[in-house]
Amino acid sequence: MKPQPFKVAILGAGCIGTDLLMKIQRSIHLECVLVAGRNQASCGLRKALKMGYPTTDGGIAALVDKSHTFDLVFDATDAHSHQEHWNQLKPLRKLMVNLTPTQVGHMIAPSVNGNEILEHQNISLISCGGQASIPLVTALSSLFPSIPYIEVVTTAASPSVGRGTRLNLDEYIETTEMAISAFSRASQVKALVNLSPAKPPTTFRVAISMMTDGADLSAVKAAVTEAAAQVLSFVPGYHITACKTFESGQVFVAVEVKGRGDYLPPYAGNLDIINAAAIVVAERYAVNRTSPLMPTSELEL
Ligand SMILES: NC(=O)c1ccc[n+]([C@@H]2O[C@H](COP(=O)([O-])OP(=O)(O)OC[C@H]3O[C@@H](n4cnc5c(N)ncnc54)[C@H](OP(=O)(O)O)[C@@H]3O)[C@@H](O)[C@H]2O)c1
Repeated sequence: MKPQPFKVAILGAGCIGTDLLMKIQRSIHLECVLVAGRNQASCGLRKALKMGYPTTDGGIAALVDKSHTFDLVFDATDAHSHQEHWNQLKPLRKLMVNLTPTQVGHMIAPSVNGNEILEHQNISLISCGGQASIPLVTALSSLFPSIPYIEVVTTAASPSVGRGTRLNLDEYIETTEMAISAFSRASQVKALVNLSPAKPPTTFRVAISMMTDGADLSAVKAAVTEAAAQVLSFVPGYHITACKTFESGQVFVAVEVKGRGDYLPPYAGNLDIINAAAIVVAERYAVNRTSPLMPTSELEL
């Protein structure tokens, strides 16, 4: 018998929320039962309604009111709102996938520590730059006993970056740096972001520079290729565009992500890299919903 789809809700119907809705529509495990925003006239809520989904402009209050209809919420609002959303949904035993760069929730990069998903009730997906770089910096960190410095520069096309993202750019930097430090154990991490106004829009890309005591190019290439292949299994447009080592010990790796063109054209790989991770997390909960690994008593209450 076909299993019942896992019922989910989206909070925040901007660039991320709308692209996510289109990806949920393709999932055989997930069913979106509610899209919540705060302005019924917004493009995202009107689009969701047109696609046939129930919508509300009542924000978190409406989700709490209808909480019996879903198991999991994707928070695609902004970092300033997430803590309050979590405070309201946590006691209702809802699962949360946090797409805002808030240091709330257990940090997951699916190809690196996806095995930890079921142990947590709130999953933080860090940031788009974090999702693109963490699999690579984690793989590279296993090659070097110490890494004094990592710099990660993310470039996203301006039209793919909504107001919510722009409002939480400081949190983007802090959370991305904190996550890269945690996964790589580098002594110092710098994250930078460039919202490019270029026309035609620039494809989403991330450049990683890492200082080491001396790097062997073939070992670096092998580590990068293996890590990228794992991400490619759920983000089809993820590909390495440069992988170099220098006599100084510097390692340089660049990655580009072409999106599937769901909500925005393929240049907006920033939406795909984090939303593909969100789908992996939700589907993991969906297929394990009766697993002994996810008893209600072990949820983070
Ligand atoms: N765009 C990216 O590349 C990207 C990638 C990864 C992660 N993120 C993160 O995802 C989040 C959303 O980014 P975005 O680019 O999608 O921004 P966005 O287009 O501005 O979308 C945010 C949406 O959330 C709504 N919203 C904000 N606070 C709300 C609240 N308290 N209750 C209900 N709805 C609320 C906004 O409504 P209004 O229209 O009324 O303001 C807007 O529709 C940000 O935290 C961002 O850092 C973005």
